[in-house]
Amino acid sequence: MKTWVLYHSKGGNTKKIADVIANELEDVLKSEQIPPAYPPENVALLFLGTGEYAGKPDSKLLEFVRTLNKDRVKNVAVFGTNGKGVAGSAIATVKSLLNEKGINVVDESFCCKGKFFIFANRKSPDSNDINAAKEYAKRVYNSIKA
Ligand SMILES: Cc1cc2nc3c(=O)[nH]c(=O)nc-3n(C[C@H](O)[C@H](O)[C@H](O)COP(=O)(O)O)c2cc1C
Repeated sequence: MKTWVLYHSKGGNTKKIADVIANELEDVLKSEQIPPAYPPENVALLFLGTGEYAGKPDSKLLEFVRTLNKDRVKNVAVFGTNGKGVAGSAIATVKSLLNEKGINVVDESFCCKGKFFIFANRKSPDSNDINAAKEYAKRVYNSIKA
């Protein structure tokens, strides 16, 4: 099952989670910052990650989502990091764009806190977040494979 992990990360937090997801699964393409070197083709499951900046995903991620269609990518699981540690408007925006394109969006998203500026969430993502991301990756992968 062709699985890919793509993300947009300005500060490295979302990249950290993307790498954990990619390392946890077999048969997965290495995680890559958007835009990827090659456009996605025949992807059964795409994990798509974003940080949240003033309530939004980065515009490069939105541009990329607009290039996707359901012939190239069958299922997308959206994950991210933000200041709050629960899925917020950035993840919701990405999910609704994908829905509009008729691409199947996995219900469950993953989100944890990510550090920003100097002091905010300075220990995040932490080891609990990393473990939760591994579990999420396996759960989603197995649910699509089944
Ligand atoms: C300029 C800026 C704006 C941010 N705006 C929000 C926001 O609106 N809501 C939120 O929950 N977190 C916000 N954050 C926190 C980031 O979402 C958090 O640090 C996230 O981990 C960033 O992901 P990244 O390191 O992958 O870029 C902001 C951070 C920065 C630097």
